[in-house]
Amino acid sequence: MDSPPGHTGVRTGEAMRHVRVRENADVLVRSGRIEAIGEGITVPPGGQIIDAHGDVLMPGFVDCHTHLCWAGNRIDEWTRRLAGESYLQILKDGGGIMSTVRAVRATPLKTLTELLRKRLDAILRQGVTTIEIKSGYGLSAESEIKMLRAIRNAAMTWPGTVLMTALLGHAIDPEIGEKAFVEKTIYETLPAVHAEFPGITVDLFCEEGAWTLAGSLRLIQAAQDLGHPVRVHADQFTSRGMVREAVKLGVLSIDHLEQTTSAEMDCLAKSQTFGVGLPVTAMNLGGSSKPDGFSGMASGMKFANLRSLVDLGGRVCVATNANPGSAPSLSMPLAIALAVRFCGLSIEEAITAATVNPALLLGFKDRGVLGVGKRADLILLRHEDYREIAYELGGDPIRAVIVGGHVARYYATT
Ligand code: NIG
Repeated sequence: MDSPPGHTGVRTGEAMRHVRVRENADVLVRSGRIEAIGEGITVPPGGQIIDAHGDVLMPGFVDCHTHLCWAGNRIDEWTRRLAGESYLQILKDGGGIMSTVRAVRATPLKTLTELLRKRLDAILRQGVTTIEIKSGYGLSAESEIKMLRAIRNAAMTWPGTVLMTALLGHAIDPEIGEKAFVEKTIYETLPAVHAEFPGITVDLFCEEGAWTLAGSLRLIQAAQDLGHPVRVHADQFTSRGMVREAVKLGVLSIDHLEQTTSAEMDCLAKSQTFGVGLPVTAMNLGGSSKPDGFSGMASGMKFANLRSLVDLGGRVCVATNANPGSAPSLSMPLAIALAVRFCGLSIEEAITAATVNPALLLGFKDRGVLGVGKRADLILLRHEDYREIAYELGGDPIRAVIVGGHVARYYATT
């Protein structure tokens, strides 16, 4: 499965639906790149052959929004949510993100790195070959830098590509208080992170109980003044006017968008800013088009209306949001399956939103499509029909993962 000729850059609107299926094609890979695609390619001497047996070969997934580096777990909190408590109430009571912050602060760098390595191995098996990983569970200069070092260390031994983001505004440390914590983040944490990781993308969570709009705008401005690109979490539970402001400030992406109004979607669509949908979160937090449709789970959560963002011409991505609280899942196939069922994307649009578009959001022009000259980050499915990626729920669709031309994982056909 590849991308039709003529497409360069971000796929929007109609172009998101263009995926090309080539029957019986061979793909020749040399020195980590795709050298040729077509029927009957001669295998060069010494070349290794992988027989797809008619199954689908497609670009590896690019997971552009994860919180994959964490310690501890939130299973007890999840059972409280099953009993009806809300995510924001648990956060307000000092749990949620803050309980993971306490666990991360108490975990040595080496252990944090090992925990992340295991998760990276697991996510590779799900077909992810390029991933963004945020810090955000440190919330102090020392602990944020520890997280970023853990991500950098774990990335060194992972075959795929890791892009780090400094999520400096993930929550407000209640022990410091809002006003002082905003100052501390801007005048202490940001400069310390800037000194060791210049140019790293900075992120924040603008939400009731997290960062206010005013605090968020100050952090964005301060980060941009130091030359950091910015991404924001916005409109997850409440709409606080961040979409318009973030667009004005030229942020790279606005992620979540569950509560975004159609006028704000239109504003986003007219900009160069990407919109990232995180449907696993809406499902896990009790997402429903009928707010009281789920028994036992505190709901009111909606899915992002990615259909409207595509129709308005926006730049659309889908990601796992893998984290211990709102999205305990490492599965891009699940994110795609939910985006198709609940966010209004077609299967082809969801695949585009999980491959080439997030690659470009992360700044990679050489992947996310299967084309000559592109990096050979490929996945071989266990299926002859690419639509199985969205159709199957909780399955095991990946047979082989090839990263930079090397077979990183291969599972024999059953
Ligand atoms: O994108 N909303 C903020 N951050 C994550 C959740 C992180 C957590 O609960 O630990 C999210 O959903």
